[in-house]
Amino acid sequence: MEFCLQADGYEVRVAPGASGALSRFLEVTPDISSVFILTDSVTRSLCLPLLLRSVPALSNAVVLEVAPGEATKTLEEVRSLCVELNASGADRQSLLICLGGGMVGDLGGFTASVFLRGIRFVQLPTTLLAMVDASVGGKTGVDLDHHKNLIGTFSRPEVVFIDTDFLKSLPLRQLRSGLAEIIKHSIIGNVPPFEELPVSGDLAAVDWLPYVISSVSYKNEIVSMDFTDRHQRKLLNFGHTVGHALEARSNAGGAYPLLHGEAVALGMQVELALSARLAGLPVSVANRMINYLRSVYGELAPPVYDEALVPFLLSDKKNSGGKIRCVLLGAEGNPIIDAEVGLEDVRIAIDSLAAVSSLI
Ligand code: GLY
Repeated sequence: MEFCLQADGYEVRVAPGASGALSRFLEVTPDISSVFILTDSVTRSLCLPLLLRSVPALSNAVVLEVAPGEATKTLEEVRSLCVELNASGADRQSLLICLGGGMVGDLGGFTASVFLRGIRFVQLPTTLLAMVDASVGGKTGVDLDHHKNLIGTFSRPEVVFIDTDFLKSLPLRQLRSGLAEIIKHSIIGNVPPFEELPVSGDLAAVDWLPYVISSVSYKNEIVSMDFTDRHQRKLLNFGHTVGHALEARSNAGGAYPLLHGEAVALGMQVELALSARLAGLPVSVANRMINYLRSVYGELAPPVYDEALVPFLLSDKKNSGGKIRCVLLGAEGNPIIDAEVGLEDVRIAIDSLAAVSSLI
């Protein structure tokens, strides 16, 4: 079964084996002078062989390899990639294929959007997280001194191929990280309904295809109303104000660097506690959601509020007028964008999570 979605100016094709359709795309797309594949070293060994088997035409492509992990998402890396593209003869008719997780998609999309004022690119996400979130919606970017995604562009790919066969080699920790964005879509949009989320027990046995399709469709619906993130699209930031700060602090020298989805899972717990305290979300609803998140992410240490978190909370790109802005839930299924919260509110919410087994 193939699911094909018309996004704003490009197609998203979802299926096991979907990357094979790149062959046809390369045949029918006019004037491609050269093809580059950006990937990280882990994805190169786990996923590139599969891609080259299903798309033999890519055997001549130039592979640009970067180190895995969020630390690679920098302007310095963009510069290196531009130098490499230039040295390898890339021109305005070149195509960049981003094969990897969210980091590769963000870095590659951004590089493609600025090199020679923009070359074409294709997204081929290989992690659950990138499949259900970053590959759709045209956000590209890099971090600035660990502050998440402070530099970036809105730039549409030519096409997105979501090949769920890549999930077969994805470690459990990465699957769990991707599930966080699916849970987010469930909490803010009831897609999928909360009771249909996977039980925490055996994530490796889950058939992810229906979840990927529903998340991609939901995200596309939101993005098509507000591509540049001024209104409805901000809903997708639920869990991300606190989540990004936790992620950035952990990447800036914490003992345990969090994956993006892990940080969002913790951020959602904090923002649910904030919703119960500040926005009228019934405590019983907040607790049901927090308890589910804990059943999946219980191995993660509860978040801690300290001075090191403050600069990351204050530099979040969603803030405005020096105030921290979050998405909070006013009621189940009723997210509120641009809710203003203070540092003290965040501290109290984080402390309440650490102190008790539930908010009641
Ligand atoms: N990840 C949130 C967005 O794409 O808007």
